[in-house]
Amino acid sequence: MELKKFVDQLPIPPIIKLKKNPHNNPYVVRMIQARHRFHKNLPKTKVWAYQGTVPGPTIEVEKDQPIYVKWENKLPNKHFLPVDTTIHGAMDTPEVRTVVHLHGSSSRPASDGHPEAWFTRNFRQTGPEFVTQTYEYPNRERATALWYHDHTLGITRLNVYAGLAGLYLIRDEEEKALPLPKGEYEVPLIVQDKSFNPDGSLFYPSQPSNPSPDLPFPSIVDGFFGDTMVVNGKVWPFLEVEPRKYRFRLLNASNSRAYLFQFSNSQSFFLIGTDGGLLEHPIEVQSLQVGSAERIDIVVDFSKLQGETIILQNQYELGNPIGDVMAFKVTKQLNEKDHSQVPSILSKIDRIPLKAVKKVRHLTLDETQDEYGRPMLLLNGFEWDDPVTETPLLDSIEIWELENKTEGGHPIHIHLVNFLVLGRRENSGKIRKRIPTDFGLKDTVTVNALETVRIIMRFKPYAGKYVWHCHKLEHEDHDMMRPLTIKNPDDH
Ligand code: C2O
Ligand code: CU
Repeated sequence: MELKKFVDQLPIPPIIKLKKNPHNNPYVVRMIQARHRFHKNLPKTKVWAYQGTVPGPTIEVEKDQPIYVKWENKLPNKHFLPVDTTIHGAMDTPEVRTVVHLHGSSSRPASDGHPEAWFTRNFRQTGPEFVTQTYEYPNRERATALWYHDHTLGITRLNVYAGLAGLYLIRDEEEKALPLPKGEYEVPLIVQDKSFNPDGSLFYPSQPSNPSPDLPFPSIVDGFFGDTMVVNGKVWPFLEVEPRKYRFRLLNASNSRAYLFQFSNSQSFFLIGTDGGLLEHPIEVQSLQVGSAERIDIVVDFSKLQGETIILQNQYELGNPIGDVMAFKVTKQLNEKDHSQVPSILSKIDRIPLKAVKKVRHLTLDETQDEYGRPMLLLNGFEWDDPVTETPLLDSIEIWELENKTEGGHPIHIHLVNFLVLGRRENSGKIRKRIPTDFGLKDTVTVNALETVRIIMRFKPYAGKYVWHCHKLEHEDHDMMRPLTIKNPDDH
């Protein structure tokens, strides 16, 4: 379907500022079925939405102010997108399963949104370690942009695609003291790709429910790639800006799509932060690679562009309609002199001493076939259901060498921790330069085709059951996800 570009204004998701609250008085967020208009020329259509909005409201908190959130599943009993019951855990249950993960947070296992901690509208799964829908977020992280999204085993891709994702900003004093663009000049950009049926409803490819080994049929592992770009819930929107600096908090919340962001006039911009908060120093760039679930914090200067329109583009798709992401029209009058700056010193990142490393794990990203002969992606040759193999000790430091043996990139995410990228090399051994986002704290790192990325992290502050996985949601669902159990050295 042909949809006109740059006719809808960029919406800003509603902001919910939360202060410390007690466990017995949690903030309630409901997941409901709602109707949403993705484009002027599309009718409103069915979505699943936190508090009824797509994307969900931006939750804004202060560092060290712990909050409690009760996530309530008020969704209908049946999925409106095609469930593939041949993959792990994806039962076509009478009630829809959900669970919420706050991506990038350090939460206790019971508040982490483990893929098996799902609950339905009327029935709550109460396994021994997962007994609550009220989650505790200590907010001990540095100021940064996290995001919350669905994480249900086997159907994460469908629940997120249906609309279950939102931004979560942590503020701290260090960030507030910096002269960065603030207020209306700090804008969240939640980037996704979607496709629509002729009636305006969300399109997601279906899989045969009873695959036969004799019939060739598609695999979800190819990933979902939509034919329109959606930012903050609108197809190819535009934002009117003043000729001055803006700070953008950009999240790639696409199911599978990776981006190499650039501006149509090739102007440079500043990377000031990554998944885990501010960089030590800004890095001037002309393009940035951002895989699924990665965030970039950037400052863009429109001051010399009065009257012009520039397009945020995806270099990987230049020349295709999908190569355009959104437009910035520099049509507003400068409201007051722009006093904002990008300081040359932003923050301090604690380095982990290499000599403290307890263990180096070599882990492969590889491809195999499932029982129906479809391609299937695995971590270290194991499926989700295989016994846990990654069991770091609480508080210990490890290096993980992620060797991608496949021909595609994989954004690898580890729950609970932030890590630092030590280096990249071709699998054959040739050293590759680190990319700009490698200089910040990360919770998700793209391991490009046939490349090995080395990362270092300390497993703290909680022991227990977490996961690590590829964040291309189609990969994660089949079966590029593994348990991660952090062991307390005190219990045997
Ligand atoms: Cu953003 Cu395990 O997920
Ligand atoms: Cu992957």
